[in-house]
Amino acid sequence: MCTVGVVLGGVAPEHEVSIISALQAAAALDRERYTPVPLYIAKDGTWYTGDALLEVDTYRDLDALRDAATPVALHPGGYGTLRVVEVPPESRWERLRRPPLRRDIDVMLLGLHGGPGEDGSVQGLCEAMGVPYTGSGVLGSAVGMDKGLSKQLCQQAGIPVVDFVTLRDNDWAGREDEQLTRCLDTLGLPLIVKPARLGSSIGIARADTRAALDAAIEDALRYDDKVIVEKAVSDLREINCSVLGTPTESTASVLEEPVPSAEEDVLSFQDKYMRESDNNAGGTKTGGPEGMASLDRIIPAELDDATTASIQEMAVQIFQLFECAGVARIDFMIDRATGTVYFNEINTIPGSFSFYLWEPSGIPFDELMHRTIQAAQQRFTEARGRIRTYDVNLLSERSLSGLKGSKG
Ligand SMILES: Nc1ncnc2c1ncn2[C@@H]1O[C@H](COP(=O)(O)OP(=O)(O)O)[C@@H](O)[C@H]1O
Ligand SMILES: [Mg+2]
Repeated sequence: MCTVGVVLGGVAPEHEVSIISALQAAAALDRERYTPVPLYIAKDGTWYTGDALLEVDTYRDLDALRDAATPVALHPGGYGTLRVVEVPPESRWERLRRPPLRRDIDVMLLGLHGGPGEDGSVQGLCEAMGVPYTGSGVLGSAVGMDKGLSKQLCQQAGIPVVDFVTLRDNDWAGREDEQLTRCLDTLGLPLIVKPARLGSSIGIARADTRAALDAAIEDALRYDDKVIVEKAVSDLREINCSVLGTPTESTASVLEEPVPSAEEDVLSFQDKYMRESDNNAGGTKTGGPEGMASLDRIIPAELDDATTASIQEMAVQIFQLFECAGVARIDFMIDRATGTVYFNEINTIPGSFSFYLWEPSGIPFDELMHRTIQAAQQRFTEARGRIRTYDVNLLSERSLSGLKGSKG
């Protein structure tokens, strides 16, 4: 039996969305193989465990949650395990009354969205702790989180992206007019402005005038010190494709076309997570909001076979380019006017693990999680197979005599 640390919550705006995605995944785990242990990162950064954290209702009252859950610290547990240990209670009596809770985790199932959970930070923590973790590694997670670097990487690989410029806080302050002119001269109007490393449409705005562009950049810079200004695709169709596997062996799912609500021109946070759904994709219900699975969408997207195949092929190429693993979702934009397909962004931990795209692709949710965990274990084993330290102590007496004061 494999103990799976299901990591959820996190210090990011998508905290609640993460809870939904991760609980869906925990519920889908094949209990013959896996035992889920929830590891909840509260908004203040404290880590908790406890069986109640597998129930969505526990998250409705955060004060009650703190009573029901146990704060924990992480310790490297030896080869391939992470030891989760209860933080000692304040009271001496409590400390003496019972031994501290301790769990050994064999693999971390990262169900965090946005922020440190998706940008490589928590992935790096798992690397340093020596425990396998699901999804992409530090590199793919970090590059994938940055909309500017992602576009540059794709552009270099010959994948179309809309024209864009990157703007940093220190380029902007005091040189606003010059920067506005630069954006308008290189890109024209209308434009879309985005914080470079956020998600869920937060801080994203469309600009049809110079004044609107000014306001949009000011606003986006409140969220991130790096901002992307890009050409707006006026007659837009959005198409998403999930990819599952390892950097060398990966397959694409069926395509989805998310549908924005009538009154908005960009898919909003509301559209993505808070819309009352009457045609949701089904699957595992958590009794609460349904996360990405509740967005109105057409699955499979109504595209001709050739376009479908070429988007799937591009998605796999991008997954491998970013050295992704587990399950990711790559989002494209089609310009209806020209038929051009552009890479828009990559989500290395997609909402609801994209299960609603894998079920119609013939891979049920339990199998999706099984393959994701297997990919994590495979990467871990392969990395351990390489030489990482030398079995010679350069600080031993004998070695030191030849080493004095030189770095060689
Ligand atoms: N270049 C663009 N032209 C038109 N609409 C866009 C463009 N870029 C983004 N959008 C709209 O904004 C939404 C959010 O942008 P996206 O880049 O996907 O960021 P997020 O990480 O917040 O999802 C998209 O789903 C789309 O509706
Ligand atoms: Mg998006």
